[in-house]
Amino acid sequence: MSRLDAFIARLHAQKALLEYVAARIADVPGPVLELGLGNGRTFDHLREILPGREIFVFDRAVSAHPASIPDGEHMIVGDIRETLAYCAPRVGSPAAFIHCDLGTGDPTSDLARSDWLAPLIHARTASGGYVATGVKLDMPDFETLPMPPGLEASRYSILRKR
Ligand SMILES: C[S@@+](CC[C@H](N)C(=O)[O-])C[C@H]1O[C@@H](n2cnc3c(N)ncnc32)[C@H](O)[C@@H]1O
Repeated sequence: MSRLDAFIARLHAQKALLEYVAARIADVPGPVLELGLGNGRTFDHLREILPGREIFVFDRAVSAHPASIPDGEHMIVGDIRETLAYCAPRVGSPAAFIHCDLGTGDPTSDLARSDWLAPLIHARTASGGYVATGVKLDMPDFETLPMPPGLEASRYSILRKR
């Protein structure tokens, strides 16, 4: 698969998964955490499909399209290894949904990242809350949900905290 095809497949999977989870969290209290603002595309989609849900966005720097930058209270700047660990006073309750879009596509660096990321995501997810992740996360109290039809081959997975 060319990198262009892989990029298109990733965007397709992201859109479908964000909508899949958004349709299931009505009864789960808590904010949404977007890990990786990047260009702001998935943040922009999340705020469109989840109006009224508080969304906090994490990235080490703000380099998004100007129309897709959260307000200062909801943009948490810094290394996620530190900011996710210490965000509770600002973010409040554990999250109903965490979208983790930090993958680099490099297996070694993604594996190293998943090692410190999994316990942080575990701690910040509400009971019954969802995680959609492009980085494999080993989290014992979570069940891995079947992927929506057509997305089985995607690098993404959907997890739900028991
Ligand atoms: C693939 S991009 C996110 C794309 C974005 N979701 C979008 O739709 O445009 C990944 C982002 O994660 C950020 N990132 C990766 N590792 C990070 C870390 N340890 N701490 C903070 N930000 C990190 C990068 O700066 C980059 O902006």
